[in-house]
Amino acid sequence: MTPETVTRLRAEAPACRDVLHFNNAGASLMPEPVFQTMTRYLDDERRMGGYEAGAQNQLVLDRFYAAFARLIGAEPGEIAYQESATRAWDMVLYGLRWQAGDEVIIHVSDYVSNTLALMQMAERRGIVISQCPSDAHGQMDVAALAAMIGARTRLVSVSHIPTQGGIVQPVAEIGRVARAAGVPFLLDACQSLGQVVVNVDEIGCDFLTGTGRKFLRGPRGTGVLYVRNAAMDLMDPPFVDGHSAAVDGDRIKWQPGARRFEAFEQNYAGKAGLAAAVDYALRLGMADIEARLVGLAAELRHGLKGLAGVTVHDQGLRQGGIVTFSKDGIASGALSARLHGQGINTSVSRAHWAPLDFAARGLPDMVRASVHAYNSEDEVARFVAAIAAA
Ligand SMILES: Cc1ncc(COP(=O)(O)O)c(C=O)c1O
Repeated sequence: MTPETVTRLRAEAPACRDVLHFNNAGASLMPEPVFQTMTRYLDDERRMGGYEAGAQNQLVLDRFYAAFARLIGAEPGEIAYQESATRAWDMVLYGLRWQAGDEVIIHVSDYVSNTLALMQMAERRGIVISQCPSDAHGQMDVAALAAMIGARTRLVSVSHIPTQGGIVQPVAEIGRVARAAGVPFLLDACQSLGQVVVNVDEIGCDFLTGTGRKFLRGPRGTGVLYVRNAAMDLMDPPFVDGHSAAVDGDRIKWQPGARRFEAFEQNYAGKAGLAAAVDYALRLGMADIEARLVGLAAELRHGLKGLAGVTVHDQGLRQGGIVTFSKDGIASGALSARLHGQGINTSVSRAHWAPLDFAARGLPDMVRASVHAYNSEDEVARFVAAIAAA
């Protein structure tokens, strides 16, 4: 990415003038074209009425499906609008046709909401949750996964990039093992969409879930679900309405494709905004975005590791844009609050959000500094200096 492009990216995220935003894993800064799309849409609703604005903007809204299809190498009919990554993920978990004793294989790095939903399904339906061990780099041990998959394994589920660290899971290898065994693969791409190149065929996942507000830089309250055509009928959608299905005599006739997982009522301005955010990323090029933010994060880790009393906790053979660390003598919550007072945005990773991993690794609360392509080398240096001084 050229310096000119970075300058433009920063100009298109006006908050860069006022804050140093290293909280892209929480919610990123919305680029101007996304904001403009949403405010234009809301203005249409205000002037015309909601249904009339929807009809007028049909092409803008339909772009949601085509844009995501291009982003992840899918077909538009395999994409569904969702209100969050969690609801998209739930759609798969609660939609699969489970029988008592069916096994799902997960990894210790899982997000809390996924863990909770699995626990609920274990209580309600008797599914069995098995944890694949980690390899020496802290990532899912692919050889162990191959050995674990058995006759009752119905799902392999992993977060591409977990909430609590820089690790990028070896998802293509995981996908190959799952496919060879004929077991569906659910990928939580909540942190990876917009951060790294994601292609569902290269990964071999059957289901993928994501959110709008993080590295995609879309609005809050938006998300996406991908269901591979070949996997569509593995699920019985847990909810139904007049958008996802129709009454056909005494039968439910589901919409073709992933539309059957949507609700009639949607955040239309948000949907248009998220489509604009995906288009923004596509125009820049995901490979360029990934290369830039991975480089910035490596620089940040290097700077932090050079500071006395600072421990960087990130694992992984391959690492992305999320950097987690703690500093001796100051609680991470207090450190993040102090940074906020200096105009530096971070978040705090706590055991609550990734309970399995925090327990297994005995992790303390960690400051999470997550960079994006629009961040600058100067900001990295300023951040490291602020941690040194804290
Ligand atoms: C890895 C991962 N999965 C899922 C989620 C949930 O996303 P949402 O809040 O959009 O439901 C998060 C949120 O931080 C996450 O980091």
